[in-house]
Amino acid sequence: LKQERDSTQVFDRVTGGHGDDVNRYVEPMRTIDWVDGAVEIIDQTALPDETRILRLSTVDELVEAVRRLAVRGAPAIGVAGAFGVALAARQFAGDPDGLASAVERVRTARPTAVNLARCAGRVADRLPDGPDAALKEALRIRDEEIDSAEQMAQLGADLLVSLCGERPRLLTHCNTGALATVTGGTALAVAFELHRRGALAGMVASETRPLLQGARLTAWELGRAGIPYRLIVDGAGPFLMSRGEVDAVIVGADRICANGDVVNKVGTYAHALGARAAGIPFVVVAPESTVDLDTPSGDAVEIEDRGAAEVVAFRGVAFAPEGAGTANPAFDVTPYPLVTAIVTDRRVIRLDTGEVLGSGRRQ
Ligand code: MRU
Repeated sequence: LKQERDSTQVFDRVTGGHGDDVNRYVEPMRTIDWVDGAVEIIDQTALPDETRILRLSTVDELVEAVRRLAVRGAPAIGVAGAFGVALAARQFAGDPDGLASAVERVRTARPTAVNLARCAGRVADRLPDGPDAALKEALRIRDEEIDSAEQMAQLGADLLVSLCGERPRLLTHCNTGALATVTGGTALAVAFELHRRGALAGMVASETRPLLQGARLTAWELGRAGIPYRLIVDGAGPFLMSRGEVDAVIVGADRICANGDVVNKVGTYAHALGARAAGIPFVVVAPESTVDLDTPSGDAVEIEDRGAAEVVAFRGVAFAPEGAGTANPAFDVTPYPLVTAIVTDRRVIRLDTGEVLGSGRRQ
């Protein structure tokens, strides 16, 4: 990767706005952006030890960053996909075969979150109009995700207060903050908004094996926001719920199917079962760009398996016997009957009262 910069520069730059949209939106952190003809991301593999910016100038660099989760989270990889196609348009100008294969590499870099293929596809549709039109569409997608995060924060905070009363204690899984979107977040944006309103008692962050998005990223974001939190191992979530220490579970999604099934980071399903057993709400927060009415139910979703290495070792340190058999599904499916409500940037769908997402009919 071509260029690395340190955290001070990142945060200075991202608070200053960008040339193409001149301070339209000012936020303390952007996870991903288009800067001077290339894509810049915060390298999420290095957090929380180091806040490092990676500059991705080629399609191969971008695809590799998505695959190794240097940029991750459904909305963020959607924006990465959009920028990836914009990069491809420049890199493969005059080479239609090279361009087609680059677009396909971007679109399929990870299979489960619908945002990636969908956003890459939106930009690919503009390719006949040239690289500038493609980039314009990618920037539009970035701005839509920024706006969505703000809408979800408001709608979700209102819902949580109506479900749990003032100052709930919320459990969350994986990372759904600014790192997983462009700014703000999905489920974690709701926590930020409740905190801003003085209406959040605190968070329980589930560590999220095997790559520790909860321990490394959510804990880091909660700390930066000044929100009190307790970090737990994944298996402790349902037990804390049973002891009355959690008022609601709030998570994001990588794909929400037409029937309301929620595909999200592996471990989510266990928290949903725990919430049901404890009689507390299980709320999913995700933008409309994650809602996939073309996928009837969770059974139809390709669940990424990330292979043995992540299960038997962490950052190169092995802890399982050599040759251990493994399974490493990166996501699981929470069936819609366990979901209290889905909050998007446009609406709140109360699955617990029989509301439906799309066609009005369960698949
Ligand atoms: O494998 P990851 O880290 O990309 O998985 C991310 C998640 O599962 C998030 O919960 C989901 O993308 C929602 S993020 C706003």
